[in-house]
Amino acid sequence: MRGILITFEGIDGSGKSTAVAELARRIAEEERPPFAGRRFLFTAEPTEGEEGRLIREKLKRYSRTAEGQGSRAIEAEQLEELFLFMADHARHLAETVIPALERGMVVVSDRYSDSRVAYQGATLRGVIPRPLEWVRELHRPWSVVPDKTILFSIDPTLAIERCQSRAGEAGPSQISKAPEKFEREELLREVAENFERMARREPERFVVIDAACGKADILEETMRALAELLSETKSTV
Ligand code: TYD
Repeated sequence: MRGILITFEGIDGSGKSTAVAELARRIAEEERPPFAGRRFLFTAEPTEGEEGRLIREKLKRYSRTAEGQGSRAIEAEQLEELFLFMADHARHLAETVIPALERGMVVVSDRYSDSRVAYQGATLRGVIPRPLEWVRELHRPWSVVPDKTILFSIDPTLAIERCQSRAGEAGPSQISKAPEKFEREELLREVAENFERMARREPERFVVIDAACGKADILEETMRALAELLSETKSTV
């Protein structure tokens, strides 16, 4: 495949989606190399496709902390969630990511397989032995590994405050909708730790950005990381 795959990852409230949207605007205006002359495709998981819509619907209904729900029912929900995300990923790869890479495009995805490893690696703890490794293995035979992953790193307490301050406009995130603040923070902390662990495991793939600093600084740092990556990768378009 001739293109480049760049993914953005981070916990809810890390400011990742806002930064990706801003990045898309900045790149569209760039007239100099290494941005000019490249064709970009911005995409996201969960997708806007059939599976993605189903996931968003389900996430609204799922409640990890629901009283009166047996542990078996909760385990089934966590597994169902994983496989829905995987189905969404399969379609995303086949219909969007791989065709764009084959056309030599720079594909930028807001969340990708590492979200599954970090989130479902956390939610499936106690359900599956070594869930993080298991979820990673589930992808290995058929998924496409990103060339670079930009991880927005932030303290979960701060991230939750950010989620709460945009409460009314919050997306379908199960985490920002979960009723118990403590459990939500615990889960996010675990997800954040999983991301950090993954970044340490693959330092050449991950670029870690301090998402606690201001929006302008984050954008500059992201643009710099992308420029570096694009400069070291020969133009394929
Ligand atoms: P997203 O749409 O990025 O969240 P929002 O727009 O609300 O910030 O993702 C929805 C939620 O799904 C988010 O809490 C992260 C979670 N998620 C997983 O648990 N596993 C996955 O594989 C993906 C892609 C997302």
